[in-house]
Amino acid sequence: MDFSIKNAQPEKVRTACVVVPVFGNRKLSDAARRIDQSSSGQLSRALKNSDFDGAPGKTLMLFDVEGIGAARVLVTGAGKNGRLNTSEFHKAVQNALTTLCSAGITDATLFVSELNATGYDEQWAATKIAALAVGAAYRFDVMKSDIGKKAGKPLSRVSLGINGKPSRQLQKALDRGRAIGEGTNLARDLGNLPPNICTPDYLAQQAKKMIRLNRLRVNVLDVAQMKKLGMGSLLAVAQGSRQPAKLICIEHRGGPAKQKPVVLVGKGVTFDTGGISLKPSSEMDEMKYDMSGAGSVFGTMHAVSAMKLPLNVVGVIPAVENMPDGQATRPGDIVTSMSGQTIEILNTDAEGRLILCDALTYAERYEPAAVIDIATLTGACVIALGKVATGLFSPDDKLASELIDAGETSWDRAWRMPVWDDYQEQLSSNFADVANIGGRPAGSVTAACFLARFARKYRWAHLDIAGTAWKSGKEKGSTGRPVPLLTQFLIKRAGW
Ligand code: BES
Ligand code: MN
Ligand code: ZN
Repeated sequence: MDFSIKNAQPEKVRTACVVVPVFGNRKLSDAARRIDQSSSGQLSRALKNSDFDGAPGKTLMLFDVEGIGAARVLVTGAGKNGRLNTSEFHKAVQNALTTLCSAGITDATLFVSELNATGYDEQWAATKIAALAVGAAYRFDVMKSDIGKKAGKPLSRVSLGINGKPSRQLQKALDRGRAIGEGTNLARDLGNLPPNICTPDYLAQQAKKMIRLNRLRVNVLDVAQMKKLGMGSLLAVAQGSRQPAKLICIEHRGGPAKQKPVVLVGKGVTFDTGGISLKPSSEMDEMKYDMSGAGSVFGTMHAVSAMKLPLNVVGVIPAVENMPDGQATRPGDIVTSMSGQTIEILNTDAEGRLILCDALTYAERYEPAAVIDIATLTGACVIALGKVATGLFSPDDKLASELIDAGETSWDRAWRMPVWDDYQEQLSSNFADVANIGGRPAGSVTAACFLARFARKYRWAHLDIAGTAWKSGKEKGSTGRPVPLLTQFLIKRAGW
């Protein structure tokens, strides 16, 4: 996607579509008024004859507007006085962009400086617009033949129309938004790919591609190397699959050599059948998204490297497939994790924590400033928070509030849940140090408590994205969340 800033007039600019805000009671913004004047009132007449009321998220597309340079005008609702909260701003921009995309427009100029979110500046708005534009233009049709492919080119050029000299900061803000959008789309691609293609080895190859494209350092550990390290828990999950497990490590060294990195650990279960504790078959296809935590790490690594973020960031991805088979782990098996703790596997479907615990122990070698793991970990989290908020678990108040704030700013929100030690007793085992399930009550909390036992040597937070990483139903597909949250968190950490 190409982004630029144009010092131009809305009525003169030559573009396939010019986007202008209109407030409640059909009050025109400056940009809308100029178009109205040039077209001898055509815009206000059209508004009068429509049910457009200026509510954020409402749009109205006009064709054949006389006396202006643009082929079309898209009016977008800006609320009462243009004073929008973050949610309304998001909705207004998002709907305008999806309207552009479904109209098949490839090039648009937005005069939306009067569209403001309370508490944020124009740079923030530009970043948001760019990230949403890249997201709106997203298509996933690599698996379709020409028969199924959508015709026409997607939105590819977006300009911000302003009155004045374009500042470098504003262009930077757009570039940042593009990086976030691309990172999010990469996470979506990986999530949407079918599980017969997106295997642990595919993810490893994807990482290697990033060496060249993003100048990242990549190291992939194979099964023999993981055995040597004592990753008995991770390997137990993979042993029922024909697909060999991989541990993928990606490094972005943007900060000073001595700076301790932030380590992102992403659950990469490329397909989760449940193993011997087999899942019911309805909607099992959705378990291809069980590598979305890994996908979000890829996406975030892409974003930070594209924006050359001056911060050290490491991604660690345990990638496995969870299958039932003659070699598969049985309920009742006891394994020894890399940390030395023994685990009684009472349910082979609670596999995410089994691969994450070894990855969390592995993360110690980076002497991290903080470790964040991201995982489609529990159905219980979907029950608790639905599709709106990601579950955030951390014993560290400061780290937790940094992540909550990043979620608010990027409008990719998380909500804090407890990881109190009081829940730990649910995980006690008669035969090993710990059991891998804690019963039905507080299922997402006991899952986090399990992970906490392996994350005692550094500052740590866990994001349960089981509800937020994808949409089901008619619009089934990966959302790319929480790439915006993670990237914003890192941007702030870098002091940008
Ligand atoms: N990948 C699932 C979690 C999940 C379920 C994500 C539904 C999204 C939608 C995870 O591996 C799992 O199966 N968790 C079990 C844990 C249970 C056996 C303790 C669950 O949530 O049912
Ligand atoms: Mn499972
Ligand atoms: Zn799973």
